[in-house]
Amino acid sequence: MIRSILKYGDRVVHDRAEPVGAFTPDIDRLVGDMIETMYAAPGVGLAAPQVGVPLRIFVVDISIGRDPTGLVVMINPEFVEQDGMQLEEEGCLSVPGFNATVVRPSRVILKGLDRAGGEQRHEGTGLLARAFQHEMDHLDGMLFVDRLRGIKRDVIVRRIRKLSRAGKW
Ligand code: NI
Repeated sequence: MIRSILKYGDRVVHDRAEPVGAFTPDIDRLVGDMIETMYAAPGVGLAAPQVGVPLRIFVVDISIGRDPTGLVVMINPEFVEQDGMQLEEEGCLSVPGFNATVVRPSRVILKGLDRAGGEQRHEGTGLLARAFQHEMDHLDGMLFVDRLRGIKRDVIVRRIRKLSRAGKW
């Protein structure tokens, strides 16, 4: 089932998410829905708080379904390593219509649990490292806009407020 994606300003996307405690059928259904919602958007990643569930789960597929091995489901993920630096344009399904250049590590190793509750580890470089870091931020209630400084951030926030007041957000 495709779920609706919450936007900047919705409380759940700005709050820290809680770890998953048990691998229930509800969690499995949520993961399935998140994958479907990400592909439908389409997007390269989606975190549970974006569909209104404050749990530490994200899905990423930088191939958007083209590579059958491209899908990563991460539950209760943690950073093992982060290094390097990259500066690229970034957007977010919760901040539609906006992009900005965000500083990110160029290489990331994450560990966490897979959909079945098994331990896993994933290394990402380039776009995958960026996607991992972006989704990890979501689990801490942080959007790419919060990573910007000064005028760049103010311009986006002001435009969102304006759209919001006009009922267009
Ligand atoms: Ni996002």
